[in-house]
Amino acid sequence: METLEDDVTTRADDGGFGVYVHWPFCQSKCPYCDFNSHVRHGGVDQQRYARALARELATMASWSGEKNPTSVFFGGGTPSLMEPATVATVLEAIDDALGLPSDAEITLEANPSSVEQSRFEGFRAAGVNRVSLGVQSLHDDALVALGRRHDAATARAALALAQGIFPRVSADLIYARPGQTTADWADELSEMLEICGNHLSLYQLTIEEGTRFFDLHEAGKLVVPEDDAAADLYELTHALTSAAGFARYEVSNHARDDEEARHNLLYWRGGRYIGAGAGAHGRLDIEGTRTATATHRRPEDWLTAVEANGHGLAEREPLDTAATADEFLLMGLRLSEGLDLDAYARRAGAPLDERRVDALASEGFLSRSGRRIRIPDAARLLTNAIVRELAS
Ligand SMILES: C[S@@+](CC[C@H](N)C(=O)[O-])C[C@H]1O[C@@H](n2cnc3c(N)ncnc32)[C@H](O)[C@@H]1O
Ligand code: SF4
Repeated sequence: METLEDDVTTRADDGGFGVYVHWPFCQSKCPYCDFNSHVRHGGVDQQRYARALARELATMASWSGEKNPTSVFFGGGTPSLMEPATVATVLEAIDDALGLPSDAEITLEANPSSVEQSRFEGFRAAGVNRVSLGVQSLHDDALVALGRRHDAATARAALALAQGIFPRVSADLIYARPGQTTADWADELSEMLEICGNHLSLYQLTIEEGTRFFDLHEAGKLVVPEDDAAADLYELTHALTSAAGFARYEVSNHARDDEEARHNLLYWRGGRYIGAGAGAHGRLDIEGTRTATATHRRPEDWLTAVEANGHGLAEREPLDTAATADEFLLMGLRLSEGLDLDAYARRAGAPLDERRVDALASEGFLSRSGRRIRIPDAARLLTNAIVRELAS
């Protein structure tokens, strides 16, 4: 295995390169979730899926012309339902096709209800060095309302277990839930800040079309906090996490001690990534053009396609410079570090309209330091409107 050092320094400006692997299965479907996740009561032939993932990764690696990913991310669905041997097969395939540096960040999303020590240790032995645990809440009544299969005690135990096995552990919580008061959230988040590691993803509940929560919301049977109340919860989140030494480096992501997720930073900095597995998205430079890829969402369709063609692509769309530039803007302005105007101009083939930048800056919606622009904390909740104003 090679080391990352050269790669990271030469590519510091272009966002870097990583690999995303999607595991599209869950034990049950949570009522708020619109991720590509499927329940298969008859079980899943993991060896067959592992072979197909290895084959698709080899194909996509050959298109990309890339080497040495700085990060690998197993997302889902519920990747902790993978057998450690499946994870090992996929990592070996990545190493064969791309060369997996010994210091690459290798993250796996885990669900507390599928946690067992033997599997965590197996993931670690396979090479996983970071776990992102979907705790969602530390209150039992909220976990029931969210349709989760675990209670708070199980989540706490899973977190402690993971911390004993993996060098880096993150946890996800969902807030701005129906009926949640600032006092409830302060209590829950304060406990989490005491027991968590150095990375937290704190998501405001979004009502996604096609979910059970969406239908209930439409029918007036599920009421989420109004804008003002949600803004109060967001501010409280910032106050409590900052007091605990966490920096909000992205809208929903908080880290201390340099534990930002390298893989997620790659997305927000406009990097390139292979997206393998059913329903995975990728961004690759293919024959000099940034290209968006997406695979078949239904696992069985994806599997059949990979076995027939070596890949399960449903879409392969070359992105024009306007689309590339808008995406770079949208992703970059999610980050507290913001984005570099010269890097934008290189991607867009033209500079950002500096009059619009200065007008937004004079009204407090952007802050500018030299060639770098960012959205100040006070304007964070207006991110989408600010990006719309700037987009080409
Ligand atoms: C792919 S999912 C989950 C990983 C794992 N299957 C689990 O549920 O623990 C990644 C994260 O997105 C967040 N999420 C999913 N749907 C959401 C929604 N509608 N609103 C806010 N956060 C959501 C959850 O915190 C979840 O842990
Ligand atoms: S939140 Fe996680 S466990 Fe629940 S359906 Fe979505 S991916 Fe599956």
